[in-house]
Parts: sequence; structure tokens; C-alpha cells
Amino acid sequence: MCGIFGCLLSNGNASPVIHSSLKKLEYRGYDSVGIATIFDGKIFLKKGQGKIDEVHKNLNLDDLPGNIGIGHTRWATHGAPLQINSHPHFDCTGKIAVVHNGIIENFSELKLELQNLGHIFVSKTDTEVIPHLIEAIMKDKPDFSFENAVQEAIKRLEGSFALAAISSHEPSKLVCARNESPLILGISDNGIYCASDIPAFLPLTNKTVPINNGELVIITAKGYQIKKIRDGSLIERAPEIIEWTSEMAVKQGYPHFMIKEIYEQPEVLRNTLRLQDHYLDLFSTFLDRSTEIFLVACGTSYHACLAASYMFSKLAFLPTYPVYASEFIEQYGKSVNIDSTILAVSQSGETADTIAAVVSAQQRAATILSLTNTIGSTLTRISRVYIGTQAGPEIGVAATKTFTSQISVLAQLALRLAKRRGKISQDEIDTLEGQLAKLPDIVDTTVKTQDAKAKQIAHKYANSKVLFFLGRGISTATAFEGRLKLMEIAYIPSVAFPAGESKHGPISLIENGLPVIFVCQKDDTHKTVISNIMEMKARGAKIIAIIEKDDNEIKEIADDYLEVPQGILGIFSPIPYAIPLQLLAYHMAIELNHDPDMPRNLAKSVTVK
Ligand code: F6R
Repeated sequence: MCGIFGCLLSNGNASPVIHSSLKKLEYRGYDSVGIATIFDGKIFLKKGQGKIDEVHKNLNLDDLPGNIGIGHTRWATHGAPLQINSHPHFDCTGKIAVVHNGIIENFSELKLELQNLGHIFVSKTDTEVIPHLIEAIMKDKPDFSFENAVQEAIKRLEGSFALAAISSHEPSKLVCARNESPLILGISDNGIYCASDIPAFLPLTNKTVPINNGELVIITAKGYQIKKIRDGSLIERAPEIIEWTSEMAVKQGYPHFMIKEIYEQPEVLRNTLRLQDHYLDLFSTFLDRSTEIFLVACGTSYHACLAASYMFSKLAFLPTYPVYASEFIEQYGKSVNIDSTILAVSQSGETADTIAAVVSAQQRAATILSLTNTIGSTLTRISRVYIGTQAGPEIGVAATKTFTSQISVLAQLALRLAKRRGKISQDEIDTLEGQLAKLPDIVDTTVKTQDAKAKQIAHKYANSKVLFFLGRGISTATAFEGRLKLMEIAYIPSVAFPAGESKHGPISLIENGLPVIFVCQKDDTHKTVISNIMEMKARGAKIIAIIEKDDNEIKEIADDYLEVPQGILGIFSPIPYAIPLQLLAYHMAIELNHDPDMPRNLAKSVTVK
């Protein structure tokens, strides 16, 4: 998740406007920053690694000449957060500059094709193929306008993008386009802006034009023109007035970052499905050849590991050990060896316990693989190979979108391993891949249909003294995560354990009216879960069930329920089933007047042991 911005002004220099607008997009990423403008038929560029203020201190981002320009603040996905990988990116002639947010899935193929035509690439980014592609088309079709060349180039892109491009060939034109990644225009008396998000230009104007998927915009001194990328047909769209304050705009109209991030999950999951194959292959090669695999993490990331251990076992027939990072050295520190692999999972990539576990295993020659949301973090630097979870910056302290994105990547890895080890048939692989591809839409439906209902249930149970969270099989991980979310932001003491453990102790706590949340995915555990519900009901517990739509058997015995769409395979259930639990925790915190974004005593990145 990066931030892009572009503008064509009637008066004044573009670069200070771009600089201040990028500052407002910094919540979308802050690994590096760059600005390109055009003046007197020439492109001027400044870019550097680091936060915007640091780069500005070194380079002065405000003194580029010209009234037209583009800018970018980066959240690294392809290529480390280095100066060379920061945007804007250029073609070979230096006459076409592009900023991009999104992921180009077919960039390796395009890069090879362009390299064979003699194009020289300087970065490791997927974005750089875009200016080279535009250049190649302009060379091939000299009669094409700049926007025609951009249009032809983006027809060849697979994946997601919001991009803005300028060229000294046509120095008074700004072209931008969208597929999946957000893009919006701002219209003021002094010019036209394009940006990833409204806050970028909100102080300058509240007149906006939303751009839809598959649309291209040409901005000139005369105004803006929107076209369909597919066939170039014109689209008429008048500006709308947005009544948002700056604070609301950063949260895109949501009252808190947490709920905004819960709603971002469909988009994030679409991005995690765009992982580059060779990383999954590399990971599965290392995992397949190790004699023991430890999945090491803390908190929510540990719950993702717990879910993954079921996936690796059930799909790839591969046993793995999920371990709390803070316990790893004591529990396994001495037994780790050259044949062990540590797969460390961390949103921040900086968690002290996770880093300490990894460093100790590394000293004993174990292979270190990692999954993180923060490219360039300590974890990425000390790992043999890492995969980025593509969730974009998460501002709410409680992990939501990063949890489901971690599980999505781990599920893809389990599938890849299953294929490699020949453990499941092609038919099964096709079914599983089909289901994974549907998860973003399933999550979308779940968020939209269950939000209001979760609010009602939260209202009903917010004054409970204690809650239970139970699940069987892979839903044990979902139940643990639901409990953590509720405890950390609503401060309600909660207990979670595998449902089968009830009668070995915890059931003695049950008394009349105590709410017990059951996560009831439809798989081999379903019948036994019903027995566990009955045991709790018999002792007076109130049952809140998370069920598949039309699971009438459970609906009849539950006091309340939240639903996910039908037909979800149990093995992937933690992704959709986590959503109602996130919503419930959020609404309980609100009911109790707590700020869900900044829970007491907690920090987003825990860098002490
Ligand atoms: C809970 C939460 C924490 C983190 C934990 C690990 O909502 O966010 O439990 O999951 O501190 O953090 P990372 O994943 O950054 O290593």
C-alpha cells in the first residue's frame, strides 16, 4: 500500500504541493519518497530512502521547478526500501516518469520481454516495467499520443494498480489510471490533483471525482477527461462535494482505524493472492527438506502460526511446531540444528522475542524463513528468504488485516507444499485454489452483512464479567484470536481453549448466563462441537455461535449467532470466521467507551523482551 499523488496547477510550483500532499498520505507507507516535475520540456527528479521529513531535510523536496508533477510515498512490496527502488521510475530515455501503487503480477514476463528488446532496468520493482512498456509502445507507434501509449501499456498489466505518469514528450499532460488500487481526483480553482486517497488534497479542495476500476484519466489545462481503458470510450462524471474533516479523511470516513482495517481485508486478501510464485517455491523447497519446522511468533501472529500448523499437516502431511517466540529459546534452543527450519511470522518484523528466537536458531545454523508485513525490517535482514504479506500499514494496535493476510500466505504455502510433496490430487488442488480465490469476496460479504449484527450482540453482552471462546480443530486458532482481540481492546477477561478441553477443568467456571462463543466451521469436527455446545447449555451458558449461513442445527440451539457465507472449506475457515470476532471485539470496545485503536499498556511494535 503506497501513496501516489499528481497535479497540474494553473499557478505556482507543483513540488511543494506534492510534498505536503504526500505527507498526508504517509500513513500509506513511508519507506522512501520521490517527486518528479516537468519544466521547460525537461523532467526534474528528487527521491530518496527514508521518511518524507528525512528525505526533505537532505534534498529539499520543495524546489523542483514546474507546475506539473507526480509523487510517491512507498511501502515496499517488490524490492527493498532503497533509493534505487523508490518511485518515480523511468524509461531508458528518462523522458517518461511513473508512480504506482499496487502489484503487477506479470512483471517478470514483461521485464524479460522488454530486456530482450534492449531495455535496461535499474530497480528491483515491478513498477519499472510500466515506463519501459510505454516507451516501447511510443517507439513502435510514433503517431500515438502519450495517453494512447499509457492506455496500451496498461492493457498488458495483470494485477492491481493506481498510477500516474508524466512525459517530457507532452509536458503539459498528466495521465493516471486505476485497476483495484484506489484513485481519486480533486478539482480546485488552481488545478487538478490525482491521489490514492482524499486526505492528500483535502486542504486544497473538497470537490472530488472518484475513478473506477478500468478507467484512465487525462489531465490538461482544459480539465480532465475520463476514458475506459478497454476501448477508450469517454465517461462523463461531474465532481462531488465531500464533507469530511481531515481526521475523517485519513480514516476514510470510518470512526477508527481498526474498523477501517477490518473493512480493508477483501482488498488485502486480493493482494496476498498475487504473491510471486518463486518465493512460494523457494519456501517450500526449504520446508520440504528440513527435519523439523518451528513456526515462531507472538500474539496474533502466533495464532496465524497455530492455524498454519493444521494446514501444513492436513494439506501437505507435514508436521510443524507452532511456538511462542518468547518460549522458543527455553523450549527448543538447544535442540535446533542445521536441519531445522524456523518460519518466523511477524507483522512488524521488529518484535524483540521473535528476533531473539531467530538469532539464537541462526547461531545453531538453522535455516531462517520469515513472513512479515514490513519489508526492510530487522526480520527481513536476518532471514534467508522472506515473503511480504502485502497488507499495507496497519495503524490500529489490534492486528486485524495482518492476521488474515498472514493466514492467506501460509495457506498458499501449505498448498504449494502439498503439490510439491504429491500429497493431494490435482482435483483437490483445483478445489482448494478455487476456494482461496473466492475468499476475498467471502470476507467482503461477511464484513458487510455481519457488522450491524455484531454491534447488536456486543450491546447485549458488553457487561459480561467473563467470556469463553471455544473451537475444535483449526478453529482453536480462531477462538484464541477472537479472545485476544476482545481482551486487548474491550478489557473483558476472556478464556479460550480447544472445546474438547472443557471437561478437563474449565467447565467448572460455567454458571447461568455466562456467554460462550463457539466457532463452528463445517468440517469433521461439527458434530462434536454440537455436543460441546449442549454440555455448556446444560450448565446455563449463553451460546453465541459463529456459523456458516443456514447451519440450522446450530441456529436452533444457539442464543445468538453471526454468519459467514456457505461452502467454506474448514481448512481455510480461520480467514472468514475471524471477521465476526473482530467486529464483535470492536463493537464491545465501543460499547464500553474504550478507544479500540490505542488500547492501554500496548504498543504496535513490541521491541523489548
Ligand atoms: C494483537 C497484536 C499483538 C501482535 C504481537 C506480535 O492484536 O497485534 O499480539 O500480534 O505483538 O507482533 P508482530 O506480528 O509485529 O511480531
